[in-house]
Amino acid sequence: MAKRPLIVRSLPALRRALAGVKPKDLALVPTMGALHAGHIALVRQARRRARHVVVSIFVNPAQFAPTEDLGSYPKTWAADIAVLAAENATLVWAPSTATMYPDGFATRIEPAGPAKAGLEDKFRPHFFGGVATVVTKLFTQTSAGFAMFGEKDFQQLCMVTQLVRDLDLPLRIVPVATVREKDGLALSSRNVYLSAAERAAAPALYRVLKAGARRIKTGAAIADVLEDGRGDIGRAGFALDYLEARHARTLAQVGSVKDGPIRLLVAAKIGRTRLIDNVAV
Ligand code: PAJ
Repeated sequence: MAKRPLIVRSLPALRRALAGVKPKDLALVPTMGALHAGHIALVRQARRRARHVVVSIFVNPAQFAPTEDLGSYPKTWAADIAVLAAENATLVWAPSTATMYPDGFATRIEPAGPAKAGLEDKFRPHFFGGVATVVTKLFTQTSAGFAMFGEKDFQQLCMVTQLVRDLDLPLRIVPVATVREKDGLALSSRNVYLSAAERAAAPALYRVLKAGARRIKTGAAIADVLEDGRGDIGRAGFALDYLEARHARTLAQVGSVKDGPIRLLVAAKIGRTRLIDNVAV
């Protein structure tokens, strides 16, 4: 049987557990739990990079708006620990909210650049400040030399990469490709919210992204591709938040493929569930 990872809930215990581990031997996988094969892909990449893997499980209140699903965010603690044991994670860092944000906590990192691209930030204005603050704490708490982030949350990946560069944080951000269901739907902890009918319609997002990327690559005008894609997503039963083509690093607007590597990004609601996805062009 796989060895259960060490479960740590306080900062002194974390420091004791990681004393003597060099940053280059430590890779961090930040998560909010409810682990699925997408998270596991990050853990496997982490194990490839470093001898020790810390997985943090912390549902971060600072990145949820009062109207969002903080209270009902899926929790599958026992299953999470079992799968992390099977994957040979070294340590699970599971602080309480009071440990991360003790009384009197008064600092917030406010990222700009890719974090203000007018994508997720437009719909969740408080989100990237909350993520930037918590991941900076996780980076400094663990002193990991590597941190793994999924391309699934592409704007988050761009924001964290920029944050690490801007603040000279001594670690490398490692992007990991999006893990999908067989029909193309990107794995997400929130997919459990989908009804059977919504689940059946959901792969339309990826189909539209793939078709759009192919058309842009073969010379179609970006504006036309986006217009068609927006229509297709609506017809599939989604309420669209955005479908955009952006520079793959800065997330700045692009006019054509000459403006640099392009990423197509989408966010849309089906029923009460909001899904996001993206692909490279
Ligand atoms: P969470 O949604 O739990 O995701 C944790 C990590 O798993 C993120 O880097 C995310 O991009 C990655 N991930 C999720 N689904 C994936 C998929 N289908 N394929 C590949 N990677 C996937 O993102 C967060 O938590 C939080 O914002 C966090 C960074 C932990 C800060 O609180």
